[in-house]
Amino acid sequence: MNKKALYNLTYGLFVIGAAKGEKKNACVINTAIQVSGEPVTLSVAVSKNNYTHDLLLEGKKCAISVLGENVSMDTIRHFGFQSGSEVDKLAQFPHQTAQNGAPYITDGAISYFAGHVKQTLDIGTHTIFIIEVDEAENIGEDTPITYAYYQKVKKGTSPKNAPTYDASTEKKGFRCSVCGHIEEVDELPDDFTCPVCKQPRSVFVKL
Ligand SMILES: Cc1cc2nc3c(=O)[nH]c(=O)nc-3n(C[C@H](O)[C@H](O)[C@H](O)COP(=O)(O)O)c2cc1C
Repeated sequence: MNKKALYNLTYGLFVIGAAKGEKKNACVINTAIQVSGEPVTLSVAVSKNNYTHDLLLEGKKCAISVLGENVSMDTIRHFGFQSGSEVDKLAQFPHQTAQNGAPYITDGAISYFAGHVKQTLDIGTHTIFIIEVDEAENIGEDTPITYAYYQKVKKGTSPKNAPTYDASTEKKGFRCSVCGHIEEVDELPDDFTCPVCKQPRSVFVKL
């Protein structure tokens, strides 16, 4: 199998928010697609390692924000490279709550869809959720971002839990566990601080 053929599949980029009671969280996904129109139904694939997965499985409610090309890389790092099991990602980030209680982000997003889980399919590492949409709105003017634009123009990468993760393109060096920045060096100096989020050397993990 030539896995490079997978590079020619196209996707958008989204933040999916889930709610279970008072608990709320959100993460980046590239796997939202419309699968039927009557009723409007989407599917998403979410890794079982993600905190969002458990909230979605148990709470059965979500809101999906469609990201625009001008979304900041800080937003992608914030929702795509750290887990809500360790930090409250929504605490200081501009967001709204859909009628079903699920959060959607407003910075960098151009539309949102809120809905409930109709079906799930266990596919091993990920669960596919079938979402029936109850609410949808346009909230921004930007062009929707594609995964190719994210990679080629914004020079973005995907972490392990993304289905598009490709170990063969993984960089060598150290990754900041707070913001996802990768420093491509053999060793980090003792007084090193992350050039993006200013965290100390101790938060870096070797790749
Ligand atoms: C570009 C990009 C695409 C991603 N796509 C997916 C995806 O489709 N499904 C998924 O489960 N995780 C995906 N991820 C990974 C999650 O966003 C990441 O594991 C996140 O830290 C999970 O956060 P949580 O534990 O708070 O849910 C993607 C991340 C990035 C940066």
